Amino acid sequence: MAGIGIDVAAISRFGTALERNPGLAERLFTPDELRGPSGARRATASLAARFAAKEAVAKCLGAPGGLRWHDVEVRTAPGGRPVLRVRGTAAALAAGLGITSWQLSLTHDADVASAVVVAS
Ligand SMILES: CC(C)(COP(=O)(O)OP(=O)(O)OC[C@H]1O[C@@H](n2cnc3c(N)ncnc32)[C@H](O)[C@@H]1OP(=O)(O)O)[C@@H](O)C(=O)NCCC(=O)NCCS
Repeated sequence: MAGIGIDVAAISRFGTALERNPGLAERLFTPDELRGPSGARRATASLAARFAAKEAVAKCLGAPGGLRWHDVEVRTAPGGRPVLRVRGTAAALAAGLGITSWQLSLTHDADVASAVVVAS
């Protein structure tokens, strides 16, 4: 294992931030993240978990600062499993740390969304 990261987000507070800041959702998330496989906008809980996933990846990389939100993308594999796609500065940092693969788990319940990331 080359790194591990964890993060939580308060779903209601995250939803309020998205409502009050036009364009924030598009700054944080790629079009594929914003819309699920059905094409409908994802629930706030799922978006909060994806935000936590990006923060968890940043922790795996040592929270270097300057990461671009779209450079860490949560894709959805057939069957619904979330998978990470890392590009740009984040990918360059990962390569420098010898990271070649990422594992991600998401959860959301009540008002909490959380992500755990393992880099190897
Ligand atoms: C440093 C940072 C990770 C702290 O996260 P936070 O959401 O403010 O706070 P959290 O409660 O989730 O995490 C705090 C814990 O992070 C850990 N942490 C601090 N610096 C860290 C680092 N450089 N690397 C990994 N973990 C770190 C610590 O254990 C800390 O707890 P402690 O102070 O009790 O020891 C955060 O400020 C940060 O830089 N995030 C990255 C932002 C970013 O690049 N986003 C784009 C992602 S694509």
